Amino acid sequence: MLRSFLIYLSKAAWAQNLVTNWGFAWRTASRFIAGTKLEEAMRVVRELNAKGINATLDHLGEHTNTPEEAQQATDDIFATLDALGTDPDARCNVSIKLTQIGLSLDEGLCVQNLERILARAKQNNTFIRIDIEDTPYTDKTINLYYLMREKGYNNVGTAVQSYLFRAEADTRRMAQDGVPIRLVKGAYKEPPDKAFPKKADVDANYDLLAKILIDASIAFNTKLSANGRIPPIPAIASHDEKRIAFAKSYAEKAGLSKDGLEFQMLYGIRRDLQEKLAAEGYPVRVYVPFGTHWYPYFMRRLAERPANIWFFVSNFFKG
Ligand code: FDA
Repeated sequence: MLRSFLIYLSKAAWAQNLVTNWGFAWRTASRFIAGTKLEEAMRVVRELNAKGINATLDHLGEHTNTPEEAQQATDDIFATLDALGTDPDARCNVSIKLTQIGLSLDEGLCVQNLERILARAKQNNTFIRIDIEDTPYTDKTINLYYLMREKGYNNVGTAVQSYLFRAEADTRRMAQDGVPIRLVKGAYKEPPDKAFPKKADVDANYDLLAKILIDASIAFNTKLSANGRIPPIPAIASHDEKRIAFAKSYAEKAGLSKDGLEFQMLYGIRRDLQEKLAAEGYPVRVYVPFGTHWYPYFMRRLAERPANIWFFVSNFFKG
């Protein structure tokens, strides 16, 4: 109930105007967001790299409303890619959302922007992860992913949400094609005809999909690249210790070496676990969001964990 309400608020323009104008909201949000500027995010990337942790940068933005906004978002992504080009030691790639670059406005425009982004990523020797959004965009995201592969781009992967009934079929298809997949549980509100309503089912499906991806990594012999930018097929993106333990134990039994998978977590969440996995020798990548469009991302983080609301409220009383 609370989760649904917060996800509804994440899309409500009136709530966005209200919350982003409260200074205390940014104080809470900045636990999850590296800063508003690229330089601040690059500093976080360097700090993570110094601890043996890789990163993926997300210049926040989604559901742009005009072609000009989609163009601006694309230019912002170019700036991030160019920063990685001038800093080849940064063990970092880039995550984007297709509605950020125009998918909800005009699919043709989105295709053009995506292709330009992939070309720029290639010039800068890095990789693009296409985040997965809510179900109106699932088919379009997968189709555009395959379109880019047909055009010859192989520096790109996408994500799958284990809460969706369709996730197993999508994962089997993409695993067979060697697509790098970030496996997540799913952060949006989906109807009961599309997603498992019970957490136990989402978790069980997560483990099944992790197995499929680990098997694919063995079949294709995928490994994290030496510069830390190009991931292997499976990216186990979760803070859930049981899911992580399952993936570790299955990978070990199946004979996958540690660099044949990576674990991913969000900036500001379970730093202890990020460091523990890195110390054990597993590739770990932290998702580092930055920019001024932090509101929907922040609201989804609140929705995931009700305890975060108390953190938010306590910052309000601190004035
Ligand atoms: P779960 O929600 O069961 O949480 C397990 C434990 O993790 C909690 O008990 C708590 O300790 C901690 N935790 C989880 N969320 C927290 C929070 N917000 N604040 C504090 N602690 C928290 N989703 C999507 O739909 N599309 C996408 O492209 C992505 N991309 C993405 C990238 C990466 C790197 C990660 C880690 C996650 C995503 N997600 C996502 C979000 C994902 O779908 C999911 O909502 C969150 O990861 C929370 O789910 P967990 O797997 O962590 O499990």
